[in-house]
Amino acid sequence: QTKHDVYYTVIAQKGKTDFHDGGKLTKTLGYNGSYLGPVLNLKRGQTVHIKEVNHLDEKTTFHWHGAIISGKADGGPHEPVKPGKTKKISFKVRQPAATLWFHPHPSGTTGKQVYKGLAGLIYIHDRKSKCLSLPDNYGVDDFPVVVQDRTFDKNNQLNYKKDYNADRTLGKNLMVNGTLNPYINVTTRYVRLRLLNGSNTRNYNFYLNHHQKMIKIAGDGSFLAKPVKIKKLQLSPGERAEVIVDTHKLNVGSNLQLKTGGMKALTMKLNQQRDNLTSLPDKLSDRKALKVPKKNVNHEKLVLSGMSNMVRINGKKYNPDRIDIHAKRNQQQIWTIENKKEMMMNMIHPFHLHGVQFRIISINGKKPSKSQRGFLDTITLNPGDKYKISFRFEEKGLYMYHCHNLEHEENGMMGQVLVE
Ligand code: C2O
Ligand code: CU
Ligand code: CU
Repeated sequence: QTKHDVYYTVIAQKGKTDFHDGGKLTKTLGYNGSYLGPVLNLKRGQTVHIKEVNHLDEKTTFHWHGAIISGKADGGPHEPVKPGKTKKISFKVRQPAATLWFHPHPSGTTGKQVYKGLAGLIYIHDRKSKCLSLPDNYGVDDFPVVVQDRTFDKNNQLNYKKDYNADRTLGKNLMVNGTLNPYINVTTRYVRLRLLNGSNTRNYNFYLNHHQKMIKIAGDGSFLAKPVKIKKLQLSPGERAEVIVDTHKLNVGSNLQLKTGGMKALTMKLNQQRDNLTSLPDKLSDRKALKVPKKNVNHEKLVLSGMSNMVRINGKKYNPDRIDIHAKRNQQQIWTIENKKEMMMNMIHPFHLHGVQFRIISINGKKPSKSQRGFLDTITLNPGDKYKISFRFEEKGLYMYHCHNLEHEENGMMGQVLVE
């Protein structure tokens, strides 16, 4: 134990949540509370000790999505924590500043447990992120924005069984941080939104009203090299992005809205425009352009196909007893991920790989756009898309890769790689 160590206890528990303001309470699940979870603040270089406690009456796991972490601590389906039991993990934070998240990953019940409310955010901070002049005042100019869609039945309950659809478990309401009709009070010129698509299936195409642009500063696992102005932000399940909204051209009293496909995700009420920064930094990271070594490379190819319960990777369904890929720690990996175009079964598949942060070499033969050049752990593959990604496993163990449409994952669109 050193002063650099940090300790957290994360308890998966049952609860009741008042989503409807005095209406009938909804039975939910949450971490350390009734719905969703706390933000875990971690610093690069620090050793983190997490006590994972399962107070549910079913098994669960604690998965640290986006973390560079050993297979043992990663919390995949092979690391269940039984009801009433506790598991302790430790890991050293060896990755740059980013917004990660955590959620359960038990075989067969991931979709249900996430739908009922199990998800939380992890903020990783580092020296450089501290020095960048970005909004970082939690809840004042730096907001977590966990977007999820949920349907409430007549009794205000979340009925996963009823809402379940093998390809589209879609909720009628968009919620942010577990709130219906969410809004934030904006009191500064620049606002930072840390977006997570924590939905089971729904893809979002976020944009702002008033023809405002967003300034994207970070993807899943790192800052971009420079801020990039964007009109639209696509986020599929599991993905994160950080954007800055600059409100200086808008009138006090007006409402800025974050929308997706005609639905309102978040209202920003402009109360004041106190300048919190003089300007945004023009450089966010001095990461070099991606250069992939050609020697000692391990190539893999993964083909995603099918829909509903026919989903497969390389023609196979997940088998917990089968290792699909063997890899060596620190070996250069180049994986090609393809979403096969089929006659009748074209679906978007968000592909996610555990335990690493990768970079995109190419998308359909072309270089990724500037807003896709940071470190990522999840990519959105439209039908026909072919991505090449580059990374190394820095830790050992068994890791999952899968479609982050949670029902596809449950239906077997998952494989495993053993790193030795
Ligand atoms: Cu976010 Cu395997 O998961
Ligand atoms: Cu993950
Ligand atoms: Cu899928």
